[in-house]
Amino acid sequence: MTNRKKLIIDTDCGSDDAMAIAMALRDPRYEILCFTIVAGNVDARQAASNTLATIERAGSYEPPVYIGAERMLLKELAFAYETHGMDGMGDLGIRPERLSPAKGHGVLKLLEILRESQEGEIDLITLGPLTNLALAIRLEPETVRRAGRIVMMGSAGMGGGNVTATAEFNIWQDGEAAKIVLESGLQNMMLVGWDACLGDCMLNEREIGRLRDSGDLGRFTVDINRALMELNRQRFGEDCLDMADPAAMAAALCPECVREVGEYYCEVDTSCGPGYGTVLVDRYGFSGKAPNVSVCSGLWPQRYKDYIFQTLGSCEKR
Ligand code: RIB
Ligand code: CA
Repeated sequence: MTNRKKLIIDTDCGSDDAMAIAMALRDPRYEILCFTIVAGNVDARQAASNTLATIERAGSYEPPVYIGAERMLLKELAFAYETHGMDGMGDLGIRPERLSPAKGHGVLKLLEILRESQEGEIDLITLGPLTNLALAIRLEPETVRRAGRIVMMGSAGMGGGNVTATAEFNIWQDGEAAKIVLESGLQNMMLVGWDACLGDCMLNEREIGRLRDSGDLGRFTVDINRALMELNRQRFGEDCLDMADPAAMAAALCPECVREVGEYYCEVDTSCGPGYGTVLVDRYGFSGKAPNVSVCSGLWPQRYKDYIFQTLGSCEKR
């Protein structure tokens, strides 16, 4: 277990987070030290319950789950019930059978673990609003600097938004937190845009069926995404799944999946207008400011999907 890369995963566990969490738990190259919970898709307690149920279903080891921010820094929460269901997991009545949240606040636990770690020893992966990370930066910026890579599912990448014309949900849910993170001066940050999971990286009807038929975990990760499937049926007229958090997890844990990535100066619009929550990616350097984050806006479809099947289901010999 010693030579595995250590991770901390921050999540607002909805149905796509659950797929990503299961992928990470079943990748033997990594050791998840803990999960920290942030409100986002659903409230923090429901997100913790969803994370615990996913850990049980993954059938692997069982890291502790610490509840963090239950509210955003300023903005009122707007849950994503239409995308993930009222409970965030397709309203199938899924609950943990044995596990419960560990004692301690997620932000304080994140700082405690980083404080005691070797420089760069632990990578952070965030799958929800950046509230916990922003609070950690405000409390102990030097401790957060001890982290290795920080990979965040957030922004529309180089494409359009999924909650407004230009904003992606995780950033839009807490724009002020995202602003703190992007202005923190932290190195090794990467935003994985929503566009990374679109196009040929969408799971199509055949791939969804293959994943569902691959075993209990594959069936679980498909069934909990039934609300998103229904939404996409209405949006695109077919069964398909845009799996934002699995795309971010693949970009973080399987770097050979990354096809499009670049370093840019990015800032977050926190004005009160229609652009709130937009990440402005300065592609051509108009700001004259040095890049502060990498932006991944595309994955290699087959490598990404192979990674999903390698971790969640049986590998179909091509
Ligand atoms: O925009 C997609 C992101 O918002 C995903 O992380 C999804 O789980 C929601 O948190
Ligand atoms: Ca999420």
